[in-house]
Amino acid sequence: MGTPSLQHFIEIEDLTGEQFWGLLGLARRLKEEWLRTGHNEPILAGKNLAMVFQKPSLRTRVSFEMGMRHLGGHAAYLSPQEIGLGQRESVPDVARVLSGYVEGLMARVFDHAHLVALARWATVPVINGLSDYSHPCQALADLFTLWEHWSWGELAGRVLAYVGDGSNNVATSLIMAAGKVGMRVVVISPPNYTPDPAVVTRSGAEVTITADLNAVRGADVLYTDVWVSMGQEAERQRRLAALAPYQVNPTLVERTGNPDVVVMHCLPAHRGEEITDEVMDGPHSIVFPQAHNRLHAQKALLAHLLGNVPLE
Ligand code: CP
Ligand code: NVA
Repeated sequence: MGTPSLQHFIEIEDLTGEQFWGLLGLARRLKEEWLRTGHNEPILAGKNLAMVFQKPSLRTRVSFEMGMRHLGGHAAYLSPQEIGLGQRESVPDVARVLSGYVEGLMARVFDHAHLVALARWATVPVINGLSDYSHPCQALADLFTLWEHWSWGELAGRVLAYVGDGSNNVATSLIMAAGKVGMRVVVISPPNYTPDPAVVTRSGAEVTITADLNAVRGADVLYTDVWVSMGQEAERQRRLAALAPYQVNPTLVERTGNPDVVVMHCLPAHRGEEITDEVMDGPHSIVFPQAHNRLHAQKALLAHLLGNVPLE
């Protein structure tokens, strides 16, 4: 029988634990193949991905484009100026038109409802490349990075301390992903920047929410993200004031009491705000391998959704 296939990749909570692990396993195989031989089998030869961006991107744009190329396919980048998703043209119309040109869509949007509508109307798989609500590709790559870092060992029972804006898209997807693998999450955020309780409940993860920085004690992972996400620029002053105590700096790393703690950040980082140079560039940081693994995790998604490669 095997693991049931995915139709889209919009939300980690839509996956079973078996499907989530299936993507991690496929990512591992494709990364190992690429490291061993310098290339991947061209399983997506003749396949095309349209990449719709309403917001800027470095990692998501380049890793999807190179992922398609490594697998023998092609990607077309559509900038915020070009599509006018929901403005120049309705979301259902964009979905139906693009479905006649390409074998897959990846979209980065403000309004999460636009992704849901794309998936509803497209006749090809749709991948969430970040919305105001969630960033599942990031969480998939992050858990792949931890699994690899811990030599393909257990993730269950490990503790990830997320420090900063616990209400944002990255925190939301990390909580959902933790629920799939049995990791514990400690969210350390000021009031008004805590995760949506409904997300926590639905994730099935063991999540502790506190404003107390001492809660980093014993963490296996310290994770942070920007204090001002794309689209929140008007709130910058208020956010900086509320989040300033929640900087990941050498003192906070020390406070974990764990000499093997790893520090993660989805990037882009605002060095000197949510994380300091010493930590970003220090011995606990795995932020660059983490960024690089976006490529490998997304290759698994592409191979499965566009190439019908089974989950492993
Ligand atoms: N982490 C991440 O998604 O980076 P980009 O915004 O550069 O794609
Ligand atoms: N929370 C950040 C993540 C960027 C990858 C944002 O939405 O801007």
